[in-house]
Parts: sequence; C-alpha cells; structure tokens
Amino acid sequence: MAYNLLKGKRGIISGALDENSIAWHIALKAKEEGAVFTLTNAPVALRMGKVKELATACNAELIPADATSVEDIEKLYRQSMDILGGPLDFVLHSIGMSPNVRKGRDYNELKYDDFLKSIDISAISLHKMLQVAEQIDALNEYASVVALSYIAAQRTFNTYSDMAQAKAVLESIARSYGARYGKLKKVRVNTISQSPTKTTAGTGIDGFDVFYDYADRMSPLGNATAEECADYVITLFSDLTRKVTMQNLFHDGGFSTMGISDDIIEKLKP
Ligand SMILES: NC(=O)c1ccc[n+]([C@@H]2O[C@H](COP(=O)([O-])OP(=O)(O)OC[C@H]3O[C@@H](n4cnc5c(N)ncnc54)[C@H](O)[C@@H]3O)[C@@H](O)[C@H]2O)c1
Repeated sequence: MAYNLLKGKRGIISGALDENSIAWHIALKAKEEGAVFTLTNAPVALRMGKVKELATACNAELIPADATSVEDIEKLYRQSMDILGGPLDFVLHSIGMSPNVRKGRDYNELKYDDFLKSIDISAISLHKMLQVAEQIDALNEYASVVALSYIAAQRTFNTYSDMAQAKAVLESIARSYGARYGKLKKVRVNTISQSPTKTTAGTGIDGFDVFYDYADRMSPLGNATAEECADYVITLFSDLTRKVTMQNLFHDGGFSTMGISDDIIEKLKP
C-alpha cells in the first residue's frame, strides 16, 4: 500500500545491482511513494548488472559514478539536478565492497592497499557524497541522507573482516557530517544497521548462511528482509522523521538487543 510519502521529492539511489540488492527494493518503494530519482552505480556494475530493467520500471535515468571519485560524484549531482529539475531531497548510500573479503584472505593476511580500498569504497565514499553535496549546494533543507551499515561495526563477526572497520568509519562519518549539515541546512544523516540479507555483497561473506540463520534464530521478529528495509528507508526519506539525525538505527528484528534466545538454547542443548 502506498501513502504518497515521497510525493514531490527528488533523489539519488546508489547500489542497485540486481533484484536482490537492498537498493533495488528501495528504488521500487520510492517510485511507489511518488518520488523521482536517478539511479547510480559503478560503471562496471552498470555494464554487467540488470539495473537497466530497474531504470525502466522506475522511469529513472542511470548515471555511472565510481563512489570513490569526487569528480564522478560531482557529475552525478549536477546531472541529477538537471534531469530532476532542482536540488535533491534524499540520497541513498548503499555501497560496500572489500577486496580482502572478495579474495578470501584471513584477518591476519590482509593486504593494506586493499584495506584502504575497502574503507574508501564502503565508508569514505559517504563523506565524499556529503562534502560534494555541501560544496555545490545540491541538497534542499531537511534533505535526508541514509547509508546502510551492519552490526559488525560494534560486535565482532570474524569473517566480516575489514568491512567491520569500514562500517565503523561509515557510522562515524554519519554522526560527524550529520552535526555539520544539520546546523548548516537541517540536512539529516543516518545509517541503518540491517539484518543479514541474501544479496551479492551479503553472500560474499564466508559463512554467510550461518550468520543469516543465527541472526534469524536470535531475533524475536526474525531477520528483516530487503523489502522491509526499503519500507524503513522510505520513512527516513519522508517528512515524518524530520528530527531524526546522526543515528545508527538497527533494523534487525531485535537481534542487536538480544543476549540469547529460546531458539538458540533449544538448538544448543546437549
Ligand atoms: N546484505 C547484507 O547482509 C547486508 C547487511 C547489512 C548492510 N548491508 C549493506 O547494504 C549495502 C548494499 O549492499 P547489498 O547487500 O544490497 O549488496 P549489493 O551487492 O547488491 O550492493 C552493493 C553495491 O555496491 C556497489 N559498489 C561497489 N563498489 C562501488 C563503487 N566503487 N562505486 C559505486 N558503487 C559500488 C555494487 O556495484 C553494488 O551495487 C552495503 O553497504 C552493504 O554493506 C548489507
């Protein structure tokens, strides 16, 4: 059911690769709620992915941008404002990649140039998106910027590897830039810490199926799906959450507050 929550709003949605991507679901919901937006992803992902299908379904233009390139980000904002007819009301950062995880390296075998790339792609890119937006005044008052995070920023999940550090930096940038941009232009900046979700990035983590199953058994409400995440993101893009900023918001069925669940006790009973 749609509520027209984003009627008249303009935005940018990054990170939709295929129909499993969390951003894919957010784009469909944003369209349903009346927003107009552009879609963006790394040039290679746009060539290989299925994003054109999504662009057609959302009547949205696709703009290639490597999230580590300040030049690409500036073009992304300028083109989006041209296409959509003015400054923006929301930006989704749904970007994550660790070359160390992708190459299956243990935590004691990380390559440091790849560690830096993980942090650049997955975290500093949020700072770049915010800094460029401020410099060219691309966001309207009360615009909402949302980035997706994971609880490995606070707790240790061994195979999440250097992505844990990347998420910690991402959440910290949301707080620091949120303070600045809030004062300057009432722009909100938040991260959503989402349950394990079966996507390309998610399933790239070693042991993902166990993460998924464990989190599901620990969470009173069960894991949150990508579609449910999309619903939550829409509320943050909407005017109903105008005083929510600088938060890391858990969207995880209660996982983050649990110690142990009956389900896990049953499972582990000798
Ligand atoms: N899947 C999960 O379990 C889970 C849980 C919590 C948070 N998240 C986060 O959600 C976000 C979206 O991931 P997803 O799970 O939908 O997987 P996904 O693989 O569908 O999306 C990740 C996206 O990042 C893009 N990307 C990678 N490098 C880029 C670059 N240099 N420039 C621009 N884009 C680039 C990819 O092309 C892809 O579209 C990520 O930040 C991820 O860490 C995922």
